[in-house]
Amino acid sequence: MDIVAAMTDGWRLVLYLHLLAMAFFVGGQLVFGLAVVPLLRGEGDRERLRAVARRFGYGSLGALLVLVLTGWGLASHFQLWDSSTLHWKLALVALVIALALAHLRWAKLHALQGAILLASLAIVWLGLRLATGGA
Ligand code: HEM
Repeated sequence: MDIVAAMTDGWRLVLYLHLLAMAFFVGGQLVFGLAVVPLLRGEGDRERLRAVARRFGYGSLGALLVLVLTGWGLASHFQLWDSSTLHWKLALVALVIALALAHLRWAKLHALQGAILLASLAIVWLGLRLATGGA
């Protein structure tokens, strides 16, 4: 299907929400990992860091819900369910959700955060491939 030809303002709004949710979830991980944690981890008051992490965690769950709902719509409208790129992307999304739940359980296992970020960056690449006809 010609994605550009099938793009309407309504579906552009859906893609816009998909990208906003992606920006919060992936951008938030980058800011958290590169700025917040390195600065606050050294400070005695870990409660503040935990409070920021909890708030980002709840926001991320909301963002993931928006990504799944808007993604579902986009995949259906652009008839991309047979795309191997989408299949790989969905497998990584399932992995990210599983790792995020494990991270809630084992918050001190920092390797989980690294794995979530790497998988998220790979999902963004696959999303770009989908949107630019590389399905
Ligand atoms: C962590 C979760 C996700 C992230 C970070 C993400 C990210 C992205 C990005 C960056 C794009 C490219 C948009 C563009 O260049 O215009 C995209 C497109 C797309 N995503 Fe996702 N996505 C996620 C989850 C999902 C899910 C769960 C689905 C399906 C159920 C999905 C389906 C799609 C589709 C179909 C497109 C192509 C839209 C188009 O053709 O314009 N995404 N995604």
